[in-house]
Amino acid sequence: MGSTKTSLILGFLGFLFLDSLLFCSAYNVHHYSFLLRETNFTRLCTTKSMFTVNGQWPGPTIHVRKGDKAFVNVHNNGDYGVTIHWHGVKQPKNPWSDGPENITQCPIKPGKNFTYEVIFSDEEGTLWWHAHSDWSRATIHGAIVILPEIGKTYPFPKPYAEQVLILAEWFNGDVKELIDEATSTGGDPTPSNAYALNGQPGFPNNCSNETTFRFPVQYGKTYLLRLVNAGMNEEMFFGIAKHNITVVAQDAAYIKPITTSYIMITPGQTMDILVTANQAPSYYYMAASPFFDSSAPYDTTNTSAILQYTGTYTIPTTIPYPTLPNVTDKAAADNFTTRIRSLASAEHPVYVPKNVTTRIFITVSVNQIVCANASCGGPSGNRLSASLNNISFVTPSTDVLQAYYKSLPNVFDKDFPNLPPYKFNFTGDVGNNTLYPSLGTKAKLINYGDVVEIVYQGTNVGNAENHPMHLHGFSFYLVGTGYGNFDLTNSTKTYNLIDPPEVNTIGVPKNGWAAIRFVANNPGVWFMHCHLERHASWGMDTVLIVKNGPTKETSIRPPPANLPVCS
Ligand code: C2O
Ligand code: CU
Repeated sequence: MGSTKTSLILGFLGFLFLDSLLFCSAYNVHHYSFLLRETNFTRLCTTKSMFTVNGQWPGPTIHVRKGDKAFVNVHNNGDYGVTIHWHGVKQPKNPWSDGPENITQCPIKPGKNFTYEVIFSDEEGTLWWHAHSDWSRATIHGAIVILPEIGKTYPFPKPYAEQVLILAEWFNGDVKELIDEATSTGGDPTPSNAYALNGQPGFPNNCSNETTFRFPVQYGKTYLLRLVNAGMNEEMFFGIAKHNITVVAQDAAYIKPITTSYIMITPGQTMDILVTANQAPSYYYMAASPFFDSSAPYDTTNTSAILQYTGTYTIPTTIPYPTLPNVTDKAAADNFTTRIRSLASAEHPVYVPKNVTTRIFITVSVNQIVCANASCGGPSGNRLSASLNNISFVTPSTDVLQAYYKSLPNVFDKDFPNLPPYKFNFTGDVGNNTLYPSLGTKAKLINYGDVVEIVYQGTNVGNAENHPMHLHGFSFYLVGTGYGNFDLTNSTKTYNLIDPPEVNTIGVPKNGWAAIRFVANNPGVWFMHCHLERHASWGMDTVLIVKNGPTKETSIRPPPANLPVCS
């Protein structure tokens, strides 16, 4: 009896051993289950129901290693349709699981479910996931932690512990009502009432002191903070009182360490930050405050959490608060962002493409649409709008991916232009003639393997401001930025082709430009948009379609069987 049992166990162990041998260099598969439902939350002494994953805000963290795969079954028990996007995950050949509503799929309707297959490749560090339907991402989001492969280490000393820190916005009202209202009037949406760190507004917000998020640290130890800006409409400064911080990665790619007293992070971006508990044991605030350089309404508050040393000491009566740059301090924002360089080491090399084959120049503008009898809520009774190359994106009712894959007519056009319709002094006195965009659902088709350079040109049309442009399906090199109008002869001379940051979201400076490069090696339908949610809602979006290459390995995978149906 006993020996039979033993040999069975040995056989089983042998099987496990063989199994792990066969797969030792392969990835691991993870399974997650997301239940979308309304849940009550109280912040700022206001209670409301909000749409969350598993009743959590922020939602659950996904943990993987580089090159792994995760299946996430999303079941919608809410009141309206929704989709989930895996922000910064390239999803090679798999746009089907990318998520933007009516771009790569139709929404998962109430009572229905869909399983996303999230395919990781070279990402390593921190990314995040969020709803990609209307403004539901305000409450439906969470972090993705991507560790190095087994047997590999960080390119910095192993931190003692790690902590995800999610920066988000709290609205006293219902977020869906708020954007529906703004869309119907054509005016600016009501700003949020507070920012939050890990779901808590913290000091100095109303009714928030007791619940402030606390991060316990031991004197002498170094910690890794995985910071995500899941905010909707404002870029943010962040810092920790009396502690320098060292940024070591951005958007799941390593950078040359930057030691600083503050950072600036746009909505959509993620940063991995080391902090050493090297001050007198006490309480210290970590805080975030907006960086906002336009005249639009914004949330003017600050949010904080507490870095709390363990051990015995007298709790300070006044907890030190970090000094962060002023809300309009562009120089402070630039001082930080222009320091960012890829690590570009032997272990983490960069491959900046040199010979550009496709050049796309895109003006990024806030516009207006005329309303009959000046009846709208925007400036001069107009409706607020936004555009890329003067085209304000109209979301189709069938997803672009399906229409492209099945050659369905009348869903989108393939003529997104490589240039704006006319040239003007983009960042100077633009007059009134550029204020009104045309409307359309236009995609840009790109051949597999093309070397693409996109120059985003911010304009002074409407309301100039910094725009965090984000591209799905890729990370790209930010080869240059500058103020004023981009100039092919002179601006390109300032490019960094040695160690530019490799990212998925970049701030196009107010009345300035940013140039990015990537190789179009991921066939699919990829959304590109401003990550300020009000601009995305107003049409500051387009779609890049990378065509299939010559082989199966360079072509879009076949669609999954259970894709949500469009109606
Ligand atoms: Cu994080 Cu299309 O977005
Ligand atoms: Cu924008």
